[in-house]
Amino acid sequence: MSQKPEDFFKNIISHSKEYGYIFQSSEIYDGLSAVYDYGQNGAELKKNIREYWWRAMVQMHENIVGIDAAIFMHPTTWKASGHVDAFNDPLIDNKDSKKRYRADVLIEEHVAKIEDKIEKEVEKAKKRFENFDEAMFRSTNARVVEYQNKINDINNRFKNAMNDGNLAEVKQIIVDCEIVDPVSGSRNWTDVRQFNLMFSTAMGSVDGEGSTIYLRPETAQGIFVNYLNVQKTGRMKIPFGIAQTGKAFRNEIVARQFIFRMREFEQMEMQFFCKPGTEKEWYEYWKDARLKWHHSLGLGKENYKFHDHVKLAFYANAASDIEFQFPFGFKELEGIHSRTDYDLKQHEQFSGKKLQYFDPEEGASYVPYVVETSVGLDRLFLSILSAAFKEEKLQDGETRVVLSLPPALAPIKAAVFPLVKKDGLPELAEKIINQLKFDHIVTYDEKDAVGRRYRRQDAIGTPYCITVDHQSLEDGTVTVRHRDTMQQDRIKIEALNDFLNERVSMKSLLKQL
Ligand code: GAP
Repeated sequence: MSQKPEDFFKNIISHSKEYGYIFQSSEIYDGLSAVYDYGQNGAELKKNIREYWWRAMVQMHENIVGIDAAIFMHPTTWKASGHVDAFNDPLIDNKDSKKRYRADVLIEEHVAKIEDKIEKEVEKAKKRFENFDEAMFRSTNARVVEYQNKINDINNRFKNAMNDGNLAEVKQIIVDCEIVDPVSGSRNWTDVRQFNLMFSTAMGSVDGEGSTIYLRPETAQGIFVNYLNVQKTGRMKIPFGIAQTGKAFRNEIVARQFIFRMREFEQMEMQFFCKPGTEKEWYEYWKDARLKWHHSLGLGKENYKFHDHVKLAFYANAASDIEFQFPFGFKELEGIHSRTDYDLKQHEQFSGKKLQYFDPEEGASYVPYVVETSVGLDRLFLSILSAAFKEEKLQDGETRVVLSLPPALAPIKAAVFPLVKKDGLPELAEKIINQLKFDHIVTYDEKDAVGRRYRRQDAIGTPYCITVDHQSLEDGTVTVRHRDTMQQDRIKIEALNDFLNERVSMKSLLKQL
């Protein structure tokens, strides 16, 4: 159904609330910005996504093991990792509205507006000229060239300013671009300052410098500091990986787009330790493996693309994002980074402990290189939800809202309905629930006409609805209605477990990897 992307996104947000997927945190107190709670269906979907990731990483790879490190870590961890000194966003306040913005986001949005103007020129020309050559038009049309030069100039100035830590120049770009505060409409800006994104608190009863402790801004450091523990106790041989899922916290200045950018979120990260010199091979391997994992969800290959980083962090020798087409455009979903031996060496230096690996084949010790895969669970949840959410016009003119979730991830695998609330049909439906519940989460519903019950389950994303009718009492069969095709089959009650196992188990997803 064609509608504006922002309306489509609003519908997804209200649908998630209406059907118990996601609620604003502490809603009865008017909510807490950029913090969300998962409801009864959301918690199941999130758990299933996490489990699919874990199985694909840990269960399917003999050389990957999983850990669960604490959120609190020794504060020196964050000195060593560079987060205390460099995990910053440049921020700027508008003196009239008192609103705070990320300076880089203001500049990015300004550039996006100029890009829109270029697109409009291109669209206009497309309509005007037959045999339209877009590349030629972009390089010769005076207005488009002028816009493009402007963009290049802003981007270059910004990149250089950030590289040099020149915050005065960042402000000057905002002034020169005549960027106005969307709230007050004024250009009355403060200077740009760096703002550290880590949340801090105090440990124990003493407050002050020495007791400051951080909520981890990424799970990766819990893996690095345990690398030797796991290698030794698991007798792991290089190459091997350590996987972990868990909460991370960032005091995002501009937190928006629902669960895309949150202040409390969950990451699923894997650090793959390999011999120096082999990291590029493993980087390519993990890029491929992770894209395949996303494709296996069946949400459309066209929704994913790589964005290889041209400018790399000083410690990385390759980096790429898997981007997903969210309702608000292609955005980062997962990062795959070749981080060299930077993190382990930093921890060696700050802790004074050796974090080396003795390679029996080489007869020598070295600090391993690391390839990291890092995906946000909530962001992944949003990608799945937005690709699965459909508003379909049916032949009878009605609209049905359906969440075409991958069956293996759906919160409820089947709903069981008695056709009517009498004649022993509810009792038989309960018996079927008791037969299925050892394998799957199933639900019972006897309220309203069957058609309405189907619609309710479609909106939740339940892949199968099982209806018990009078024929069931005679021949022990039921109808099974498929969520996506709405087709119905007649199936023996004793065959239901096998039917569901085959269609909703994670095995079918894992086999595609
Ligand atoms: N250890 C590497 C690391 O943390 P990152 O690019 O900062 O890298 C990795 O984060 C992933 O975590 C992102 O690709 C995104 O999916 C997710 N993520 C990061 N910040 C987030 C936020 N504020 N809210 C939700 N997800 C976030």
